[in-house]
Amino acid sequence: MRTEDLHALLTAEGQDLLAELRDHSPGDELALATRLRRTHDAELVSAALAQARLRSRAAAKFGADAARMYFTPNGVEQSTRTSVAEWRARRMKDLGVTSVADLCSGIGGDAIALARAGIRVLAVDLDPVTHAVARANAEALGLADLIEARCADVADVDTSGYDAVFVDPARRGGRGRIFDPESYAPPLSWAVQAARRASVGAIKVAPGIPHEAVPGDAEAEWVSEGGDVKEAALWFGAKAAEPHRATLLPAGVSLTGGRLPDPEAGPVRRYLYEPDGAVIRAHLVAEVAAELDATLIDPTIAYLTTDRLAPTPYATAYEITDVLPFNLKKLKALVRERAIGTLVIKKRGSAIEPEELRKKIKPEGVNSAVVVLTRAAGSPVMLIGRPA
Ligand SMILES: C[S@@+](CC[C@H](N)C(=O)[O-])C[C@H]1O[C@@H](n2cnc3c(N)ncnc32)[C@H](O)[C@@H]1O
Repeated sequence: MRTEDLHALLTAEGQDLLAELRDHSPGDELALATRLRRTHDAELVSAALAQARLRSRAAAKFGADAARMYFTPNGVEQSTRTSVAEWRARRMKDLGVTSVADLCSGIGGDAIALARAGIRVLAVDLDPVTHAVARANAEALGLADLIEARCADVADVDTSGYDAVFVDPARRGGRGRIFDPESYAPPLSWAVQAARRASVGAIKVAPGIPHEAVPGDAEAEWVSEGGDVKEAALWFGAKAAEPHRATLLPAGVSLTGGRLPDPEAGPVRRYLYEPDGAVIRAHLVAEVAAELDATLIDPTIAYLTTDRLAPTPYATAYEITDVLPFNLKKLKALVRERAIGTLVIKKRGSAIEPEELRKKIKPEGVNSAVVVLTRAAGSPVMLIGRPA
């Protein structure tokens, strides 16, 4: 999208077109475009159609707001989803932050959540179209009083008047995702210096960031939603007692730690716990094991086991009925014998592809079960059970 396309969409005619395209189904697009081109400028119709497509893609991250917002293709990809941005804004608010310099604001995913938490935001982006979109979003959502959108290089911005600095560097280049934090734009080392200058600093990073890349004075937080790890952030100045945090959304619960030694390994017991992805990424499996009085089933595998069932938001529990060496024939026979038609296949530390396995087993019947393909005490095993 070009800046002039955005400006055209913000006119009364552009708004009418966007309203007509609201909730249209992709199947009707051709007929709709042909009809609209009879009465409107063809370029404006194309811009409105492209925007309508971006809005429907963005609904997964922004919910109902997406229908009122503006996007660029990169802006949708790189923006922070509302749930995660709201969580971060709440943490900022709890830390007493009243103003944030949002460096690398993109289309405003974080800025919007911060402003909605009542925080004043300076939203800085170098790209003129992205900047214009961030400004349009602040206006469309009635947040223009709290968000000042500025088109500038973050290196040229004085952040001394703000309680907090938030940096969300671009992590995608011409050749796709960037894994080396020093290749982010701006590089992680620059973002760390900027974050340390404020009372509170936060930097969004890839969830796969190597733990060695996390500075010693930072708290590293991994956030999952519905069990999927969505992002990680490094926090500075938050006076964290522990180096790591795993946050689970939508529950909004956080586990901190990172100083315990690995749990001991032992035999598979009655209950198997699968820690949430954020817990695993944050290396907090030992903290969950301590809470549950659990052991690992193998020193290299992040599954925990206990004799007693205890509730925890940080891991999903299964009751295990059979512990068997992995054997396809045996598994097939067992599934048939027990009339298991709904089979959930989980794996960790196994090269087997669940969908390939499902085709070979052909589950049929009225019962359901979970099979966990993993390793216990160094050997491939299949654990049969059900959610506890
Ligand atoms: C990951 S996106 C930010 C997403 C944003 N937090 C959101 O939720 O919408 C990174 C942004 O950084 C901007 N950027 C990269 N280098 C920059 C620089 N030196 N100065 C300002 N902005 C920059 C890019 O244009 C891009 O929009």
